[in-house]
Amino acid sequence: MIIRLSHVVAEDTPKGLAARRFQALVQSRSGGRLEVVVFAGARLYGDHDEMQALQLGAVEILAPSLSKFGRIGFPEFELFDLPYLFSDAASVRRITQGPLGQRLLQRLQRQQLVGLGYLDNGFKHMSGNHPLLQPEHFVGMRMRVQASTVIAAQMRALGARPVTLAFSETRRALALGVVDGTENPVSNFWTQRMHEVQSDLSLSQHGYLGYALVANQRFWLGLPQDDRDLLRDALGEAMVFGNQISDTQNDKALAALRDSASTRIHVPDAAQVARMRRTVQPVYDGLAKRIGEGWLRDARNAAQAG
Ligand code: LMR
Repeated sequence: MIIRLSHVVAEDTPKGLAARRFQALVQSRSGGRLEVVVFAGARLYGDHDEMQALQLGAVEILAPSLSKFGRIGFPEFELFDLPYLFSDAASVRRITQGPLGQRLLQRLQRQQLVGLGYLDNGFKHMSGNHPLLQPEHFVGMRMRVQASTVIAAQMRALGARPVTLAFSETRRALALGVVDGTENPVSNFWTQRMHEVQSDLSLSQHGYLGYALVANQRFWLGLPQDDRDLLRDALGEAMVFGNQISDTQNDKALAALRDSASTRIHVPDAAQVARMRRTVQPVYDGLAKRIGEGWLRDARNAAQAG
């Protein structure tokens, strides 16, 4: 049996490597009876059509970023996009490995999706053709964003104009000057060669990028119990592996970026971070109005419990 797993990033990223680990585990444990075929780099489906492809059964498993669930009817997932909500990976983990994370995954059943778990990429930074360290630096910038209302609101609060584009179109849009900048973890920035078209990367660490592993429900429930267990276990191990390597993948990409000397790297000082945090606060109220205070309170409590 062939199981198609499609994603939009490069192979040499936390998600790309976790997908490969899943493939290898399934191959060896099923003795080749089950075969996972990985389509990386939006080769099969991209941001515009991958969710629909999954719902139609044209692909069995996806790993979209958590930011991409809002537009298909799950705005609560945009909690993960709130700027400066998480101080570190452990604070993310208190949501993804806790009851709130489970509640979010269960909601996906409403659209015939099975949420199987979470995978980290890491923290996002701002890139452009000048430093982006404090709100004034964003004024008038056209910033590429994922299709997330929260991320768009964050850019607007900073004075920039958000432009929603598919991940696979982003580098070209930066090269052509259709957009001036974007936000990404370093692993995506480096593997998409954005450093060739962006002169400045500011290590703002203002937000988190992670993924949910989701399967088509008909496919998943139609599996014999043994195969379902095998796939669930392999995916669980692949996610643990991905979460273990995400930091090193991002560190490796940053080291490569420094070596390439193609992009200037900046670090905001404490006063700049404080101003950025203050400026984006209205984004929290906007999301609370859309999804209710309860979700925000639970997310804050979990994220800050450590
Ligand atoms: C993006 O669109 O920037 C990210 O969601 C890409 C990814 O999957 O890491």
